[in-house]
Amino acid sequence: MLVSENPALSEESVAAAVAAALAAIAGAADSAAVKAVRAEHLGEHSALALLNAQLRSVPNEQKALFGKLVGGARAQVNEAFAAKDADIAAAEMARRLESEAVDVTAIAVPGRSGSRHPLSLIQERVSDVFVGMGWEVAEGPELESEWYNFDALNFDADHPARAMQDTFFVEPLSSHLVLRTHTSPVQVRSLLERDLPVYVVCPGRVYRTDELDATHLPVFSQIEGLAVDKGLTMAHLRGTLEHFARVMFGDDARIRLRPNYFPFTEPSAELDIWHPAAKGGPRWIEWGGCGMVNANVLRAAGIDPEVYQGFAFGMGLERTLQFRNDLGDMRDFLEGDIRFSQAFGMVV
Ligand code: DAH
Repeated sequence: MLVSENPALSEESVAAAVAAALAAIAGAADSAAVKAVRAEHLGEHSALALLNAQLRSVPNEQKALFGKLVGGARAQVNEAFAAKDADIAAAEMARRLESEAVDVTAIAVPGRSGSRHPLSLIQERVSDVFVGMGWEVAEGPELESEWYNFDALNFDADHPARAMQDTFFVEPLSSHLVLRTHTSPVQVRSLLERDLPVYVVCPGRVYRTDELDATHLPVFSQIEGLAVDKGLTMAHLRGTLEHFARVMFGDDARIRLRPNYFPFTEPSAELDIWHPAAKGGPRWIEWGGCGMVNANVLRAAGIDPEVYQGFAFGMGLERTLQFRNDLGDMRDFLEGDIRFSQAFGMVV
């Protein structure tokens, strides 16, 4: 069937345009190629568009016939594109599913995860010992008022004991703030904040103007213990410390109390621990201080010392770890060398 006035528009030319389009669609491998093929075979300058434009010059009686021919051709090509689009989308989805598939049977590559510092671990461990006996964990600020750090603990204004602890005073001095030199100020804070009886431990950081060397750190950690109740005696203090020592150092651990002086306890004692496996042979090692809470401290917290008694103790946590693990140099606690933490089981 030929249109004499317009030789280009014929059944053959339409069929050829359709065949070319279908071949190109079949050959397109991905969505980008389909896009290009669509522009070429259905776009403004495509063979089918040009043939369609020629419908205008077809004689009226043939318009319906050719209109149907060209319309059918375009529909056929459109359908082929739709089928192709669906194929490609399915193939792309299949590829994505495959590439994103998770092999749940694969052996995991061990990750380099961080780990807690040995000091944090011992703080928790020590606190746990007391929580296990029904005590609570108390906290106080590291930037402390002089009143809590000294006055409320019965240090007189000109008491030589104030100088005993080398204090970082905070400027201006009129602020009366210090970096706490011990965790003992938490004793008074706890007594003011809580209802009696009080059984608390407070682990935390303390500061002294010590030079950094193998046995001194300007920043170190202590744990403070305080019990205030009716009828407490030195025997309760001793029993508590003995239990603590055994949990920390083993069933054979022994403690010894030697008379000492602290303004906030009366009587006061130095607490020693027997270290059977110490380097250079078994010996007693100074572990901390303790005593019966001084009546003046109870009074500072508004407690009647005729009714309530208390005992308290405090020790350094770095030292505790040192004895437990035979560590030589205290600076290792600060330097952040991971080999130090690895020795405590940190996995890197
Ligand atoms: N605060 C003391 C210090 O840092 C240690 C201490 C001694 C704490 C006796 C106490 C105590 O609670 O009763 O040297």
